[in-house]
Amino acid sequence: MTVSLATDHPPRHRVLFVDHAAVLGGAELSLLDLAIAYRDTSQVLLFDHGPFGDRLEAAGVKVKVIPASRALLSVRASSKLSALAAFPALWTMAQQIRQQSQGFDLIHANSQKAFVAAAIARWMGAPPVVWHLRDIITASHFSGLNRRLAVTLANAQASQVIVNSNATGASFVEAGGKPELVHLVYNGMSAQPFDSIPSDQSQAIRSEIGVDAETPLVGSFSRLSYWKGQHVLLDALRELPGVHALIVGKALFGEEDYVTQLKALAESPELAGRVHWVGFRSDIPALMKACSIVAHTSTEPEPFGRVIVEGQLAHRPVVATNAGGAKELVEDSVTGRLVAPNDAIALRAALKDLVASPDLAQRLAEQGYHHACSQFSLDTLLTQFHAALSEVVSPAIAA
Ligand code: UDP
Ligand code: GLC
Repeated sequence: MTVSLATDHPPRHRVLFVDHAAVLGGAELSLLDLAIAYRDTSQVLLFDHGPFGDRLEAAGVKVKVIPASRALLSVRASSKLSALAAFPALWTMAQQIRQQSQGFDLIHANSQKAFVAAAIARWMGAPPVVWHLRDIITASHFSGLNRRLAVTLANAQASQVIVNSNATGASFVEAGGKPELVHLVYNGMSAQPFDSIPSDQSQAIRSEIGVDAETPLVGSFSRLSYWKGQHVLLDALRELPGVHALIVGKALFGEEDYVTQLKALAESPELAGRVHWVGFRSDIPALMKACSIVAHTSTEPEPFGRVIVEGQLAHRPVVATNAGGAKELVEDSVTGRLVAPNDAIALRAALKDLVASPDLAQRLAEQGYHHACSQFSLDTLLTQFHAALSEVVSPAIAA
């Protein structure tokens, strides 16, 4: 996605962005926009080669990869094998981060693993560390030990914890994080890639998947993972004959068993022929515009949910799960619909209403679009991000 840079921006800080992930999850796509805006003064440090580094470099961002050991990369935040087990590898990464951070005003850690390593680097003498917390710190996503480790390090070593929603901030404080560290910066996106899609491009996508222009098509745009709830959407569609699903995305973090189950569910007689899989794609605006409705079906509270704002920017009615940051993005029956998590019956009813009433669908889409443009623009994100960093290091010093 190309980003237009504001020309009248204040001097950018010199930031060493650090992320452990090599794939394109929402946290990495959000960092991509920040790194592009800061590419003249900043650099991204990654723990592994992969599509994320390639996308950054293609966008003119300076990237350095310091490959971490498999022991570190394979530790899951939720696993009992905590970050402590990977401590030697973390220590090595921290030393590398400290070396690489010379000449930067601050370190921006975009993932939990990156933050833990950066916090140790700070202790070794690296510049101030800002943790961009993009996850709701709950027991379902983080083991108790990993939660305590990250929050303790944040309280001791982070100059600031930027959170992507109030829900994320509240979870940090509930886990013991100091409230005064928390600084809210919502994600923001450019409407331009959505506004510039010609209608024949969405028509071409419908032809590609073999769905005609009149067929209601509900799109899901998340990585394939149990907590993203694609199974809830399929369950809802069972009793909505004539409604098709477009499933965009793939498993990014080892959820292949879930994909197998999902595909088996889609083959069941009630659904066969109505579920279209296109894998991971980079043409999200065109795909969303090919859909009649965008569904967000996370079974757990979503920290932010870029796909919700993207669905609004695509001018499509969005049905999202009523939990976490999603509640801050959608006002029910005004800028989209909110339904209880894990409730296929409620989701089915909401989809049925939208399919039956084009006027309702049009109204929610219109209001959602204006809401997303006014509240979650790229310019607002960059202004707020700059203000957040300026609380840590004065822009005058950074300039
Ligand atoms: N996405 C993508 N290609 C795909 C599926 C998803 O580029 O095939 C993008 C999607 O458009 C969104 C991001 O991945 O920008 C997912 O971010 P979100 O915040 O919704 O969820 P996360 O995966 O970060 O939890
Ligand atoms: C994380 C969250 C997602 C959020 C994204 C960008 O991946 O799961 O909800 O939108 O970060 O902040």
